[in-house]
Amino acid sequence: MDHFAHRDGVLHCEDVALPAIAEAVGTPVYVYSAATFRRHARVFREGLAGVPRKHLAYAIKANPNLAVLRLLADEGYGADVVSGGEMARALAAGMPASEIVFSGVGKTPAELARGLDANNGGGIGQFNLELEEEGEVLAALAAARGLRAPAVLRVNPDVDAGTHAKISTGRKENKFGVPIDQAPAMFARLAALPGLDLRGVAIHIGSQLGDLAPLEAAYRRIGQLVAELRGAGHVISHVDLGGGLGVPYKPDDTMPSPAAYGAMVARVTDGWDAELMFEPGRVIAGNAGVLLTRVIWVKPGVVHPYVIVDAAMNDLARPALYDAWHDFVAVSPSGTRMVANIAGPVCESGDTFAMGRDIDAVASGDLAVFRTAGAYGATMASTYNSRALVPEVLVDGDRYAVVADRVTPETLIAAERVPDWL
Ligand code: LLP
Repeated sequence: MDHFAHRDGVLHCEDVALPAIAEAVGTPVYVYSAATFRRHARVFREGLAGVPRKHLAYAIKANPNLAVLRLLADEGYGADVVSGGEMARALAAGMPASEIVFSGVGKTPAELARGLDANNGGGIGQFNLELEEEGEVLAALAAARGLRAPAVLRVNPDVDAGTHAKISTGRKENKFGVPIDQAPAMFARLAALPGLDLRGVAIHIGSQLGDLAPLEAAYRRIGQLVAELRGAGHVISHVDLGGGLGVPYKPDDTMPSPAAYGAMVARVTDGWDAELMFEPGRVIAGNAGVLLTRVIWVKPGVVHPYVIVDAAMNDLARPALYDAWHDFVAVSPSGTRMVANIAGPVCESGDTFAMGRDIDAVASGDLAVFRTAGAYGATMASTYNSRALVPEVLVDGDRYAVVADRVTPETLIAAERVPDWL
């Protein structure tokens, strides 16, 4: 459920009519609904009511805007971060360092040190180790500071998540985690290092999962591993179950609800006696945002007309990268429909959002949105074709604020230099 709906024939985000934002801020622009973020944060937490001890770390890669992080911190969420930059954002948004989990397959030694030094040397909450050497480096950095770094070992369970290959992470050929059969021996070696408080294991098998079965299979495997590690005398107090829950992109998409997910988790983890950690991203942010765009031209095509909009693949990369579907809806629909291709201005055929799609009829100058763009939208934007970096607006009831400026080509040009020997 989200808070984008037509009222008197005009699409609103909560109580704000989208044409008002287009007028004030220009297009393209991402528009987020604070009420939707809050609702998703609560529904996800309520879904896990059957899990006695839990830690919720929003995967900020999905939407790292500072205002979004502030809002989710107020909902009691910590952060799952995958770079020093994301860590800096979480801290800047006021998320407590102790609530930050540092994931990522390529954390540099400098980034690991930043994690230890955060919070005036108090350090972040947890490091999710991706390989043995990383654990050794972290242990040495921590020992040099007189610390024991809280850490878990990310395991690759070799489960097919049944999602797009580019966002699947839990197969043995993927770059993530350590092979589950090697995990016990590696755990024993790392747990012996004085600089590490190796307290558990982590898993994340992929994103936009439409079926709970692969998750359940992966959780069962990690449950067996926990039992094996405990049998070997290790103390396992934390298990990080990752993120991955899918969201509906099309009106008839059916996705497992957070309640169904939570019920599965409660059933599978019954008796684990550990703090369970979750890293939801898309399920919190996806349907909380739209990309508002204006039609530049409707260009006659050989098969279908091309609706050329002022948003492009540099603003919303998902269709070009993953053949992703984002619903296209007119802000002020006339009631008639058309079949069209939808494309942006970037000089690549890949800059196409949809082919032969049945959409609201639109004409030059009309406003429309791409829905379900709150996750992996603005954060994946670029300035390709020297287009501006797309701005972001947060709506809360009848108020709105620009929460990220449009970064213009002039600003980008100002950061470049022509050496004096040219
Ligand atoms: N935890 C880890 C370790 C992850 O790698 C990810 C996502 C998450 C949590 C959050 O997963 P979520 O709940 O959002 O599914 N750009 C792609 C998605 C990449 C996801 C990468 N990892 C897209 O636009 O579909």
